[in-house]
Amino acid sequence: MKFFADTADIADITELAATGLLDGVTTNPSLIAKSGRDFLEVVAEIAKIVPGPVSAEVVALDHEGMMREAEIVRKIADNIAVKVPLTLDGLKTCKKLTDDGTMVNVTLCFSANQALLAGKAGATFVSPFVGRHDDIGFDGMALIADIRQIYDNYDFGTEILVASVRHPIHVLEAAKIGADVMTAPPAIIKMLVNHPLTDKGIEGFLKDWAKTGQTIG
Ligand code: E4P
Repeated sequence: MKFFADTADIADITELAATGLLDGVTTNPSLIAKSGRDFLEVVAEIAKIVPGPVSAEVVALDHEGMMREAEIVRKIADNIAVKVPLTLDGLKTCKKLTDDGTMVNVTLCFSANQALLAGKAGATFVSPFVGRHDDIGFDGMALIADIRQIYDNYDFGTEILVASVRHPIHVLEAAKIGADVMTAPPAIIKMLVNHPLTDKGIEGFLKDWAKTGQTIG
């Protein structure tokens, strides 16, 4: 399973990239606003830190406008994935861009039928938002399982990118279903390593080691 960081925070991305566990980054207009940085500038900086796909979202709602913005965005670096919303214009834009060899992340997916359309449009990634789905009383993970089944039925190459991840259980469930990628805020990625018994074990081992009076090296 690939891990993407859902952020435009350079310090967080740099820290995670240094672990060797980070495969890419997703941004959206809200995350860019939160960073307080210039969109094209911050995305270019992220694309230099992380060699994997870096999603950068267009904001136009019509196909022509999306294509105009995509032209600018995809020139930033070879590892840019143009992010488009799951609308008819977004799907049309996706088809055109992927036919051209550009990576596309179709975002704001909330139903299996929408994901089916993204697969047909040749999307590189489809982003079902599990957290926002849960928020309104639907089962975000059931959606991931449905999309996995549909994509496997028809051998779609589109990768399922589980988005709007709110806690480690979302990551666990997505991995059990076989989602290709998950994107999460850095704090949640770091939470995955935590276990009180690991901390307790380290503490115990170090206490006993101190009794030996030895050092390594
Ligand atoms: C995905 O690409 C989105 O940026 C993101 O996961 C949205 O998450 P949110 O629902 O926490 O805003």
